[in-house]
Amino acid sequence: MEYTQCWLQYKKISDVNKLDVNVYCGETGRLIDRIYEELALGFWDMYHRKIKISGGAANTGTGNGIVLTVNEKSSLGPEGYSLKSNRGRCIIEADTQVGLLYGTFALLRNLQTGESKAPKPAANFDNWSWEEEKIPSNPLRMLNHWDNMDGSIERGYSGESFFFHDNEIIVNDRTRAYARLMASVGINAVVINNVNVKDAATELITERYYTQLRKLADIFESYAIKLYLSINFASPVELGELDTADPLDERVGKWWREKAEEIWKNLPGLGGFLVKADSEGRPGPYTYGRTHSEGANMLAEAVKPHGGTIIWRCFVYNCRQDWRDKITDRAKAAYDNFKPLDGTFADNVILQIKNGPMDFQVREPVSPLLGGLSKTNMILEFQIAQEYTGQQKHVCFLIPWFKEVLNFDMYCKEKLSTVGDLVSGKTYHQVKCGIAAVANTGNDNNWTGHDLAAANLYGFGRLAFDTGLSSERIAKEWIALTYGFEEKVVKNINKILQMSWPAYEKYTSPLGIGWMVTPHTHYGPSVDGYEYDSWGTYHRADHFGIGVDRSNKGTGYCSQYNPPLDTIYGDKETCPEELLLFFHYVDYSYTLSSGKTLLQHIYDSHFEGVEDVEKMICLWEEIKEAMDMDSYNNVILKLNEQLNSAKEWRDVINSYFYRKTGIPDVKGRNIY
Ligand code: GCU
Repeated sequence: MEYTQCWLQYKKISDVNKLDVNVYCGETGRLIDRIYEELALGFWDMYHRKIKISGGAANTGTGNGIVLTVNEKSSLGPEGYSLKSNRGRCIIEADTQVGLLYGTFALLRNLQTGESKAPKPAANFDNWSWEEEKIPSNPLRMLNHWDNMDGSIERGYSGESFFFHDNEIIVNDRTRAYARLMASVGINAVVINNVNVKDAATELITERYYTQLRKLADIFESYAIKLYLSINFASPVELGELDTADPLDERVGKWWREKAEEIWKNLPGLGGFLVKADSEGRPGPYTYGRTHSEGANMLAEAVKPHGGTIIWRCFVYNCRQDWRDKITDRAKAAYDNFKPLDGTFADNVILQIKNGPMDFQVREPVSPLLGGLSKTNMILEFQIAQEYTGQQKHVCFLIPWFKEVLNFDMYCKEKLSTVGDLVSGKTYHQVKCGIAAVANTGNDNNWTGHDLAAANLYGFGRLAFDTGLSSERIAKEWIALTYGFEEKVVKNINKILQMSWPAYEKYTSPLGIGWMVTPHTHYGPSVDGYEYDSWGTYHRADHFGIGVDRSNKGTGYCSQYNPPLDTIYGDKETCPEELLLFFHYVDYSYTLSSGKTLLQHIYDSHFEGVEDVEKMICLWEEIKEAMDMDSYNNVILKLNEQLNSAKEWRDVINSYFYRKTGIPDVKGRNIY
């Protein structure tokens, strides 16, 4: 099957100098081979120049060329690099070969994009001067694929899996192309299978799959990526070997220890396991009256001798709970389940926490659990699969949102207490920590279904590597690498990307209330749609108002935040407006800071959201001439679908509230 190289296309820049580029490197090994391949490809495609491998740095003298040196004393850490280029002589230095690989990708990226506001390629490598030093912001920069072994992908919007087909593991050129793309943006850990581990996936940790897994892990390792697997907590039972998975039963501990021996003998570089336990029907320690730390620590002990890590998800809630009592609240679940366990987890356990307390809604507050744990390793979980944000039929650039989350202060310490500080280990000095994202890829030619959704894949990697990058910078890099440098193209696509998340928010559910989507599919409007039982809604709208009271008079959720966030959120007057309905039940006549009533805001924002999509279409049409037709068509077709869907959202939401309230739009527009 055909597939694109996404942002690694190395477009031609110039061919003024046809001399070979000398590359000096005293190192050998698979990573170094990857570096040579990449330099050869990049310099040929961009400048029509070959590279000449000229032995170790000792041979360089002061001549021109690229010098790659490992200097263990450079204090750049296991993955950092320094890049200094001065008129044709470029030195990439790192403590390790991994750092050299990242430095090489940085060199090639910088040659194409420069650092100015408008991306500008280096016309001639021999005149190019550049200096940068980077140590990745986060130790773990991970993708979680929700791929099933039959080839389907849970919440996948870009075709089928390229890891699995018909219960077999696929290892081919595309596996390599994937690893290369991921390494180029700094991803260093990948879970290939769905967190909901069922059927054949339970057998991934048996002889049936080791040979293929080994091949796949080898390819990953040659790009400095560690393979991880999702496992089923009840594996000893599901594989028919024990009648219990009770973590405190000695037979279970022994089973996992022996299993880990067997697994690491076959897959020596395996990173560890990702576990979804006691959530949405998945088995876990609760079945046996045990805690999450008892469950996770039992596994951690088994994998520890092999250097393995257990990543334990905190997306734990009772999906069938009845919350009509006004106190029970799904949003409280992660904190309630895990905060009391802070400090009880083994040092090779990491808790993986979704960015918000619910489930990747277009607007949610940051999960209070992130500010509640101080003695536990943490990973933040984002979702770049657009499950609730238009499913890669709508453009929704997520990086501005991720930036907001990372910059958000949790007030757990006087300094260094943003989410970015917490998950990178700066606040409490954890070593095992970082950021994961649920991947948005599949076997579509363009990997991500919507061409513009690749910006989220690229952007997530870049941001996890360098949290300080602005979303504008990331967007412009991606556009230039994908579509070239023409100013108008960069400008228009950047505008589309930057306006897309706010637009999606405007035409879907208002002011943080979330949901209102068709249950289960999560695409398209269904205002009262509720996932599990017929008695509830997520929004609690009636004839007078809408919203969930999460103050101390309501569910009490806001008290999970550190001061002053608890009181800021707890009071309607100080609560940030974009989250008003998440935290409060508010009358439709309530006046917002704009001077509009809540109801009028709902009407207006839904009209505006649709207008924003119309603007995006104009911006795209304006650059038609500069695009190749396939790229143009991929996006224009999807933008038209987005427009229809946005109109449907607008009409369904607005008419719902019109019928509930009987109050017309002050601007006299038709509310259908
Ligand atoms: C969401 C999603 C599920 C997924 C779950 C999870 O609820 O809809 O498909 O399994 O999140 O994160 O585990």
